[in-house]
Amino acid sequence: MAIQLSPLPLPASADPSKFAEFGREVIGVDPGNLSPEQFSEVREALYKYDALLFRNATVSPEQQYALTKAFDPASESYGHGNNKTEGTVKSILHPDLKTIPRVPQVQLIGNGTVYNHEGLAEAKLKHPHHRTFHKTAVSLEDEAKGHTRFYRWHIDAALYDLNPPRVTTLYGLTVPQGSPQVCRYDDGTGDELPVPLGTTAFVSGKTMFNILPPELKSVAVRARVKYSPHPYVWMAPAHAKPTGLGIESEGLEVPLGDLASWEEGKVKVFPVLWKNPVTGDLHFQVHPCGVSELLIAPLPAGANREGALYPDGAHLKDLKEVRDLLYKMQRPAIAPPLVYPHDWRENDFVLFHNRGVLHSVVGAFAPDQVRAFHQCNLAASDEPVGPAEEDVKKWA
Ligand SMILES: [Fe+2]
Repeated sequence: MAIQLSPLPLPASADPSKFAEFGREVIGVDPGNLSPEQFSEVREALYKYDALLFRNATVSPEQQYALTKAFDPASESYGHGNNKTEGTVKSILHPDLKTIPRVPQVQLIGNGTVYNHEGLAEAKLKHPHHRTFHKTAVSLEDEAKGHTRFYRWHIDAALYDLNPPRVTTLYGLTVPQGSPQVCRYDDGTGDELPVPLGTTAFVSGKTMFNILPPELKSVAVRARVKYSPHPYVWMAPAHAKPTGLGIESEGLEVPLGDLASWEEGKVKVFPVLWKNPVTGDLHFQVHPCGVSELLIAPLPAGANREGALYPDGAHLKDLKEVRDLLYKMQRPAIAPPLVYPHDWRENDFVLFHNRGVLHSVVGAFAPDQVRAFHQCNLAASDEPVGPAEEDVKKWA
């Protein structure tokens, strides 16, 4: 049976014109048991719409791993590798991940204590709270009123040694019911977004590029970012901006010499724009927290230099300068009308194009609100592909 696609229900905050090509519900197929023909249709739809939702799904950890791996048959290990190794024990991601023993590529994430779950006798889960990561926090008084923040906008990726997974699958098994919250940006704009409790928020990397003014499109198409070695350990003492979109520059990062041993050859340098393998579109894919340097190529021969930024190229190493420029390019795309906050129902299975969107955990649960999700992504067998020569000619 062919798959049927239906637009995702958008919240009142969303600008529908910006979501015409984003997000679809897939109806009529079982994501745990796709035929080869159905898989190829799902794959096509995923790259076209960047996020797919299957409702009322029944998917075992083995099936979730199999579907995730089908997008990159040569991939093998979890997207962050073995998170129990010495080099990553101080990583800010470490406490958020519990591995399913039978299928170590699938992680149990969520909130509260879960018992006798897929071979785990007892798992204490903690929904990440912005207070542990942001420089400032919503006051306890405001939090009691339901105010919250985006925790951290990101791509699922180790950003060191391993390649960013092509897709991530998220399966909501236990979804606590609770009042909606208000996600505040607290960056002086007054922006805020009403969100369902415990939403996962998505923005399109394609939109992030498309809405830039020409001079920033020109920078984006010429730029590459260099990530820190062991970025999640490096950033651990630092604090995020109130939007969760990158780090405040306070000089708190771990000095490179104090990190566990690392090799220059494993440090990741990726293009800012990643080319969609099906549509050819360019997606602005930068995990702003982990970036340490920006490398901008000169304008190509014959390009119009008038009004161009960095016409002769640049290698930016000043963290504040790097972060300010990225923030200027990324912040417009997380404006409330451009965010899709998924309203989780139990047994929702979401498949997203990790090389085409940014996403964030949002909100705060009470300790007794139990949430259990299965998450899977696999370090890719290849690096993301950047803009082609024609793309550079067109946008630079
Ligand atoms: Fe994630």
